[in-house]
Amino acid sequence: TGRLHGVVAMDGPSGTGKSTVSRRLAAACGAAYLDTGAMYRALTLAVLRSGLEGTESDTEKVAVAAVADLESVTDPSAPAIRLSGEDVESEIRGAAVTSAVSAVSAIPAVRAALVERQRVLIDEAITGCGGIVVEGRDIGSVVVPDAPLKVYLTASEDVRAARREAQDRKAGRAADHAAVLADVRRRDELDSTRKTSPLHAAPDALVLDTDGLSVDDVLTELLRLVTDRGMVT
Ligand code: DC
Repeated sequence: TGRLHGVVAMDGPSGTGKSTVSRRLAAACGAAYLDTGAMYRALTLAVLRSGLEGTESDTEKVAVAAVADLESVTDPSAPAIRLSGEDVESEIRGAAVTSAVSAVSAIPAVRAALVERQRVLIDEAITGCGGIVVEGRDIGSVVVPDAPLKVYLTASEDVRAARREAQDRKAGRAADHAAVLADVRRRDELDSTRKTSPLHAAPDALVLDTDGLSVDDVLTELLRLVTDRGMVT
C-alpha cells in the first residue's frame, strides 16, 4: 500500500468497529488518525470533574473552556488524548463519561468549538503527512464536507452491543448485555435526534453494513476504495 492523500471521513454509530478500522487504515497507508469521539468524551470528563453539570449553561461554559486544554495526538500507532497534559484515554471510556457524553455533545457551542479545533488538526496532518482518517458522527456531513471519501459504517443493534461488551470485557470493565444494549439504543436515539449535526449518513457517503464482516474484511474494502479513488500513491 502507498501513502494516503486527503481526508477519509468515517462516520457511524458506536459498535460498528469504526475506531479499529479507522486506526488500522491510517496505519496501513502512512496517514494520521483523529478520533473526534475522544474529544467529546474528554470535554465531558472536564464537565464531570467540575461538578457543574447541573445546568446546560454551566455545562456549556466548562466544556467550551476545556477545548483549550485538549491535546490530540494523531499518530495511529500511538493515538492519545490529554486534558491539561494528563492522559485521559482510559478514563474517558468509562461508564460515567459514556452516559453523559451525548448531552454534552448536543450543545451547539461545544460542537462549534470542537469542529474548529478538528479542522486545524486535519489541516496540520495534511501539511505534515498528506492524509488523515477522521472518525466521528458528523465528519462527512459537517467537519469535512468536501472529503474525497466518506464512509458510513452501520451494524445491527445486537451486533453493536455485542462488540461494545467485548471491548468492555477486554478493558476489564463489567459488561451486561441488556444494559449495554439499552445504552447503545439510548445513545443512538440522542445522537440521531439532536438538533445540531444529528448522526446521519452524508448523501454522498458510502454506506457499509459491517454485520458478519470481520475487521480485516472491512479494512480490505476500505483499502480497495481509497485505491480505486486514486487516493493512495
Ligand atoms: O465514538 P464515541 O462513542 O467515542 O463517541 C462518543 C460520543 O460523542 C457519542 O455519543 C456521540 C458524540 N460524538 C459526536 O457527537 N460527534 C462526533 N464527531 C463524535 C462523537
